[in-house]
Amino acid sequence: MAKRPHILNLRKILRNSAHCVVAYDTHARKVIGFINCISDGILTAYIPLLEVLPEYQHRGIATKLMERMLEITTRYYMTDLNCDAALVPFYEKLGMKKGTAMMRRNYSQQSGQT
Ligand SMILES: CC(C)(COP(=O)(O)OP(=O)(O)OC[C@H]1O[C@@H](n2cnc3c(N)ncnc32)[C@H](O)[C@@H]1OP(=O)(O)O)[C@@H](O)C(=O)NCCC(=O)NCCS
Repeated sequence: MAKRPHILNLRKILRNSAHCVVAYDTHARKVIGFINCISDGILTAYIPLLEVLPEYQHRGIATKLMERMLEITTRYYMTDLNCDAALVPFYEKLGMKKGTAMMRRNYSQQSGQT
């Protein structure tokens, strides 16, 4: 199972992002999902994280978060993300195209840079 960043790192991640959108449950008074985007401010927008709490999944929340982020980044030349193969249809429904990506992962730093 993927290790999540510590909550304090998560706050920093959102603060340091070019754009972020959070989903908030006003009754439970807690954040239940979020999406962030890092950017050069000119050409490129990259979406590293999209997460919804398990008990709130399958209600369209991630779709709404993605739609909002795609609106926010609509004027960039490129809006990219990496995902597992199983999620390709989810992103295709949002109008994104499947591509090829290269990546490096440092799993010892999965909770955040130390
Ligand atoms: C992926 C994730 C953000 C979706 O959140 P969500 O709010 O449930 O998404 P929505 O309700 O808008 O859409 C759900 C649809 O997405 C697709 N989907 C969601 N998770 C999926 C998965 N693991 N595999 C394949 N399809 C999936 C299905 O088509 C699903 O439809 P269904 O509800 O009829 O089953 C959520 O499962 C999550 O936080 N996962 C862990 C983190 C993650 O993998 N993030 C994606 C990074 S690329």
